[in-house]
Amino acid sequence: MGEIRRTGLWVKQLFGRRTLLKMLMGAGFAMSGWRLAAARSKEPRKMRPQENDQFVFMQGDSKGEIIAPEDIPLGGPQVLAYAIEPISKVVRDGSRLNKVMLVRFKPDEIAESTRPHSADGIVAYSAVCTHAGCPVALWMEKTRTVKCPCHYSEYDPSNLAKVVGGPTPKRLPILPLKTVDGALMVAGKFIGRVGFKRTI
Ligand code: FES
Repeated sequence: MGEIRRTGLWVKQLFGRRTLLKMLMGAGFAMSGWRLAAARSKEPRKMRPQENDQFVFMQGDSKGEIIAPEDIPLGGPQVLAYAIEPISKVVRDGSRLNKVMLVRFKPDEIAESTRPHSADGIVAYSAVCTHAGCPVALWMEKTRTVKCPCHYSEYDPSNLAKVVGGPTPKRLPILPLKTVDGALMVAGKFIGRVGFKRTI
């Protein structure tokens, strides 16, 4: 006990009462900020797609409706979607990093490296450009690639969304898929970090 009191006095002398108080308050704020961020990341709407989630249309006339495999046009363009928790019906639209794109090919048009993560010829990727975070919203008919309208980074969705043009150095994270009784579902978490590194 005496030892603790002596250490306390020594710390007080070293930093001064006011500085010590400020330091403790700062640490308190940092802790509560960290706790807030942790709690937010557990909010179902903000969570990244989880295994067994389904998908809903992100926009257009069918916005909010469940996406069936046949709703995704063969050979493109991509369909923008959010994951939905199938029991609670919570749509995971609480973070702009949760935007997903779905693209459908003939299964034999998908690269071998990509096929294990696909289901019935459908592949899913983060729709957030890895360059500076714009939605990757353009479809290039001729090359069957997806393109970001901001600075024209271009990705090949048939081959792990590797970069085929533009300034980004990094491919899009892939989201593994499966079909269960005809329903399109998430089979696992994103492979790779979603979003972009703030360099510009
Ligand atoms: S944000 Fe997509 S290319 Fe820059």
